[in-house]
Amino acid sequence: MAVDVLVGTQWGDEGKGKLIDVLTRDVDMVVRFQGGNNAGHTVEIGDNKYVLHLIPSGIFRKGVDCIIGNGVVVDPIGLMGEMTALAEQGFDMSQIQLSSNAHLVFAYHKEFDAFSESRLAEGKKIGTTKRGIGPTYADKAYRSGIRAGELCDLESLEEMFRTQLAKYNEIFTAAGMDALDPDEKWLELEKAAKYLAPFVTDTVQSVNSAIKAGKKILCEGAQATLLDIDHGTYPFVTSSSTVSGGACSGAGIAPRNIGTVWGVMKAYCTRVGEGPFPTELNDAMGEMLRKDGGEYGATTGRPRRCGWLDTVAGAFACMINGVDKLAVTKLDVLDGLDEIKLCVAYEIDGKRHDLYPSNTKLLAKAKPVYETMPGWKCSTSNAKSLDDLPENARKYLARVSELVNAEIGVVSVGPRRDQTFEVK
Ligand code: GDP
Ligand code: IMO
Ligand code: MG
Repeated sequence: MAVDVLVGTQWGDEGKGKLIDVLTRDVDMVVRFQGGNNAGHTVEIGDNKYVLHLIPSGIFRKGVDCIIGNGVVVDPIGLMGEMTALAEQGFDMSQIQLSSNAHLVFAYHKEFDAFSESRLAEGKKIGTTKRGIGPTYADKAYRSGIRAGELCDLESLEEMFRTQLAKYNEIFTAAGMDALDPDEKWLELEKAAKYLAPFVTDTVQSVNSAIKAGKKILCEGAQATLLDIDHGTYPFVTSSSTVSGGACSGAGIAPRNIGTVWGVMKAYCTRVGEGPFPTELNDAMGEMLRKDGGEYGATTGRPRRCGWLDTVAGAFACMINGVDKLAVTKLDVLDGLDEIKLCVAYEIDGKRHDLYPSNTKLLAKAKPVYETMPGWKCSTSNAKSLDDLPENARKYLARVSELVNAEIGVVSVGPRRDQTFEVK
């Protein structure tokens, strides 16, 4: 099996970027298959910290092909900015290929994203990243989107862009907002189009040729299972298929070519943006997790909401992704705790639920049923194997694995590449 898929099992920011970078040691191609620059994937190499939004996290490994697949929504100006910044630091942009079928995010999508959010009442807001992701996927479904292939035909791109912009401007002006200046926005776009055009290609053929040639391919999920448009906490979700199955349609990979599915799971939970979060801690413990875990959004800088690990949601995520191997991250953040809680069931309207409810309103009422485990009160950040971990940390991992019904394949105990070890 040639193609492995790595996805987030919670609400994002599990450490997917770090894991992709580590696993890419022996991979030929990394493929992003959904989402856009709402993602913020951090990779730390030595003293350098990089945050990637659209560029696959394989870019730091020489010779690894980095594919931005058809299921991704691409802000051309954002991508050009990301590419030029990395090129200046000596990374090879010729590793990147951009699918001609990926939909483009424009200024009017971002404006509309912010506008839609501003119109929602408190409690109804989604808390989007305001990167125009929802409106772009909506245009795609509505068949009024513009795809990356058009970057290679400036005349056609300009005509389509100006037509769409005029439509959005009608909405903005009717709402009493300023219209976007078509000439100014076109000039910005034209510059990005000229820069990106040489990278546009048929990535479905690239990926499938690589499969045929027996190359090792890794798909990089963005966002995470509980933000999935179908399976997440709708409407407090993103607008794409974030689960492992999304890799098939978002990159053009036949299901039979999928090999190992990696699920990345933080040793506790975080969420950025609105929506239900049963184990959220609005107290000193939550504050401590935020501080010790550095839980601030890599894209928006917003403080992330923090709480205990929810294994009910975790088991659901492992089930629908078909997780073969779990990568448990940020175990080190729990190092100082006397005791650690694990959510093992919910209580909803006085009744115990062992399974994750698909109804968001029910989930919003869920009270966590906790199991308490003793902490280990020592540093794990230099551990190089399971044997190096204190016994209570090993017990915690074993219990998590049992509750979510997935084997642990990797443990991460710090942000650096060398703070990761395999579990055989
Ligand atoms: P992603 O969106 O899933 O790629 O995750 P983010 O990059 O948004 O957030 C993960 C954060 O945790 C980043 O700042 C990483 O550098 C950091 N990180 C990743 N793994 C670990 C770990 O095992 N321990 C600690 N302390 N930090 C980690
Ligand atoms: P990575 O890949 C965490 C959240 C937003 C909001 C919801 C919808 O770094 O894990 P959107 O802008 O997508 O329409 O926002 O999804 N969200 C993320 N949360 N990590 C992400 O990406 C996210 N991308 C979007 O905060 O709640
Ligand atoms: Mg992130």
